[in-house]
Amino acid sequence: MFMLQGFKMMGMEEAIPAIRLENVYKIYRMGDGLEFRALNGISLDIDRGDYVAIMGPSGHGKTTLLNMIGLLDRPTMGKVYIEGIDTSLLSDEELSRLRNKKLGFVFQQYNLVNRMSVLENIELPLVIRGIPRSRRVKMVIEALEKIGGDREWLYKRPTQLSGGQQQRVAIARAIVGDPDIILADEPTGNLDTASSKIIMETFERLNKMGKTIVMVTHAHDIANCAKRILLIRDGVIRGEVRPDRSKSIFNLI
Ligand SMILES: Nc1ncnc2c1ncn2[C@@H]1O[C@H](COP(=O)(O)OP(=O)(O)O)[C@@H](O)[C@H]1O
Ligand SMILES: [Mg+2]
Repeated sequence: MFMLQGFKMMGMEEAIPAIRLENVYKIYRMGDGLEFRALNGISLDIDRGDYVAIMGPSGHGKTTLLNMIGLLDRPTMGKVYIEGIDTSLLSDEELSRLRNKKLGFVFQQYNLVNRMSVLENIELPLVIRGIPRSRRVKMVIEALEKIGGDREWLYKRPTQLSGGQQQRVAIARAIVGDPDIILADEPTGNLDTASSKIIMETFERLNKMGKTIVMVTHAHDIANCAKRILLIRDGVIRGEVRPDRSKSIFNLI
């Protein structure tokens, strides 16, 4: 259905990265004629099954970058490929479909709908996909089990759960449709150390199941849970450092 472009090794699944960015710019035009380069020429490859932390100070383009990878926004210039698909060629509707199928999102503020039950929150991506209710419930329970959640949560409202539990519900929603890629923007930014550790254990488990994870953070102990750490500054990837597990949140408590 989609065209695979720009990859020499077509037909060789392994050679196609989960995510490829080619010279991606995001330029905001200010009212006074000035421009602000939130992303200033980013190229990167993220392999299938990898677990990448993107680290950098506040205001340096981390969320903008994740939104580009997540197809929530289009670059001003440059290309984003998801599993070999050149997303610049897709209509908004095709982008939405690709997003729903391939990508799961986790946000700092959980972004759960508080007037709906936990079950209704988790099944949302499946409703959008048009999956019938009986199958949805089964998939929700599987997702809940993967994140170590409790079935008692299902008929509660998100606000009846702790912050750490709400974030696990948000992760269940992200994985319920079995996407290959999970994108997380400061997923532990609102959480205490014990809850953060549980979230990082959950990501590690999902990564071992084969999910590709891209996580934005400005915390060293969180970034050190990943397999790669990319450093972003002023909208540019400034380098890559090797994670040091002894300095990860796993070794704090
Ligand atoms: N819609 C916008 N218009 C103008 N500037 C923006 C807009 N969105 C983000 N920015 C700017 O882009 C920069 C990067 O933002 P962001 O990606 O949110 O950073 P981070 O997630 O690293 O804190 C910030 O300086 C921010 O003010
Ligand atoms: Mg941000």
